[in-house]
Amino acid sequence: MMTSKKKSAKLTRQHPSPFFSRSYGGYTSDQIDFFASAIGESTRKRTIVDPMGGQGVALSRNAWKGDNVWLGDINPALSFMACLRSPKLILNYKTLAEGLRKKVHRLNRKRRKGGQPEYVDDWFAPTIRDDLYDFGQLANLSMFDDPFGWDNDFWRTSEESQFEIGIVLLAAREFACCRSTDNPTWSKPGGIPREFRLAPTVLRALSLWEAFAEENVSNISSKRIGTLTVQRTNAAKCRLYKAPKAHAIITSPPYANRLDYTKLWAPESEALACICNRSMTEIRREQIGSTVMRGKSASFAENPKELPRVAERVLDEIKKDKSASSANYYYPFFRSYAEGLTSAMECTAERLKKDGVMVVFVRDTVRKDILFPTGQIVIDVLESTCGLELVSETKKIIKGHVGQLRQKAKSGLYGLAQQEWWLAFRRPA
Ligand SMILES: C[S@@+](CC[C@H](N)C(=O)[O-])C[C@H]1O[C@@H](n2cnc3c(N)ncnc32)[C@H](O)[C@@H]1O
Repeated sequence: MMTSKKKSAKLTRQHPSPFFSRSYGGYTSDQIDFFASAIGESTRKRTIVDPMGGQGVALSRNAWKGDNVWLGDINPALSFMACLRSPKLILNYKTLAEGLRKKVHRLNRKRRKGGQPEYVDDWFAPTIRDDLYDFGQLANLSMFDDPFGWDNDFWRTSEESQFEIGIVLLAAREFACCRSTDNPTWSKPGGIPREFRLAPTVLRALSLWEAFAEENVSNISSKRIGTLTVQRTNAAKCRLYKAPKAHAIITSPPYANRLDYTKLWAPESEALACICNRSMTEIRREQIGSTVMRGKSASFAENPKELPRVAERVLDEIKKDKSASSANYYYPFFRSYAEGLTSAMECTAERLKKDGVMVVFVRDTVRKDILFPTGQIVIDVLESTCGLELVSETKKIIKGHVGQLRQKAKSGLYGLAQQEWWLAFRRPA
């Protein structure tokens, strides 16, 4: 039995995480071991890049240990949350938290009409929407370029705004108005709002983050201060902008499984769209593995990108299936996925220094009885087109992925396992 002394020691060490625990998308502890062994320990400061880096849960720890980590993502909501793990922000947590508290109290002094508990067919109650928009003004967003824009200075200049918006997004799951679905990873908008003002949930998220920062200050190396830089990217269109040349690239591109990350991160993404007065439509369409197919078939027919032979072979098989769903949806979906992934691999590999290591985690998925060979496509592109050498390869069968967890899908496509590839390449010196 645990003694009361041990029990209290445990309680004081463990704060609940301020970050929503995802059931998908981050690196697992085995994957972290795999990339750590592929890139090795280093006594010097390294540059590590992930152009599809999401929240950078694992890689931010490399910044804590002294590396310069550069994370991109097409969805700026994820980049805002990644910022909250930056060593600079964590070390400066007291001042940042104090500034944000003042702004939230100022916001809360604004009077709002409404706030009755009635059904809302939207992500947010109207009063929360107004708070979000006004918060964008208070966080000085208008002084900087748009975080949704391309190649702008927002991510380089506005550390305080990054922090403040990041904390608001941390609270999004509490102030959003949504219902759960049969898919455990995403929710639908609408319902009776639980919150009518932003302040209470944001102050709660801030306190949790402060505890996280306080707990982790001592994990940040004082000998070698690393950095965590974020920027918006579109890897499928080779928009990596200021991504530096890297000693190591570690990345996990989306899988061809029709998982929409803007839905997986809908409360956070929609809250950011509201703060910035923008919409998620373009991001939804431009994601690798996007489920939005409207208008894409024509562009493939006119101007197809050259793909590895293994990809063309499987795409031909999918095309041979004469069902309407294949012609209108599945063929364009897999073609768009393969083209986006191929471009992303090509331009990402260009950032790898000589003797540098690139680690890629991907999964093969299925369309009826056809296995879509994503792992082999990555190998072919990185070896044949980009001149990298494959130095390590592990394959795993994954059961219990999101599709399989769907309650209503006990059979059929969703019930099938996926094959995961862990690949490490080196650029010859
Ligand atoms: C498998 S997740 C990677 C998660 C990440 N490793 C983490 O630790 O959070 C794939 C990521 O790719 C991003 N993504 C999708 N399409 C993209 C594109 N065209 N350019 C850049 N990022 C993209 C998604 O938003 C998502 O965060």
